[in-house]
Amino acid sequence: MKLASIYLALSLAFAALAGFAIAQDADISTLRPTAPTEDEMPPPMRPFQDILVQEPRNYPEQPPLIPHDIEGYEVSANYNKCLSCHARAATGRSQAPMVSVTHYIDRSGQVLAAVSPRRYFCTQCHVAQHDVEPTVANTFIDIDTLLTMPEE
Ligand code: HEC
Ligand code: HEC
Repeated sequence: MKLASIYLALSLAFAALAGFAIAQDADISTLRPTAPTEDEMPPPMRPFQDILVQEPRNYPEQPPLIPHDIEGYEVSANYNKCLSCHARAATGRSQAPMVSVTHYIDRSGQVLAAVSPRRYFCTQCHVAQHDVEPTVANTFIDIDTLLTMPEE
């Protein structure tokens, strides 16, 4: 009798825990929650952030975030829309910041006259931002904060 009530209490506790886990994961899941045969409406894409201010970098070598809209910007073997503003010769007209000298350095350390193929596909490293709440919390700590933290 006593054992049975322990089992009952345990199974109730597990049921409550499972319910909690499902409630937590309602918005985030690795597998789609609906059956593949069912139609589902994905949430609409939010527009790109398009601001005239730079986001501070989180560490010195971070590729800076793209602060503007890049919708429809072509980067292909034939054309590079980004370089039409960010290339050295284009900055007088565009007033965009020039790609830094590292973008002209090839893999043997030689500084080239044109942007190195290693740095041609800009969005490989630079990402534009959307105005959305992060789905997963970020615990990143800036190095300046880390340096002032007391040692454990
Ligand atoms: C029409 C001109 C234009 C085009 C095309 C353009 N940009 Fe920009 N970009 C700018 C200007 C101007 C800024 C300065 C900040 C601002 O005004 O938003 C900037 C800022 C940036 C920055 C921030 C630099 C920093 O130091 O914080 C990055 C990174 C960047 N752009 C990457 C890109 C990439 C990648 C593409 C192509 C997908 C691109 N840009 C296309 C004009 C342009
Ligand atoms: C392999 C990664 C990578 C690629 C590809 C790349 N970048 Fe960068 N970019 C960086 C990093 C890292 C920095 C910051 C450190 C530095 O300057 O090298 C940077 C810096 C910049 C800056 C700021 C320069 C400054 O002096 O403030 C601009 C603007 C920029 N990149 C634009 C571009 C554009 C446009 C392209 C495509 C033609 C591009 N990047 C391709 C990694 C990359």
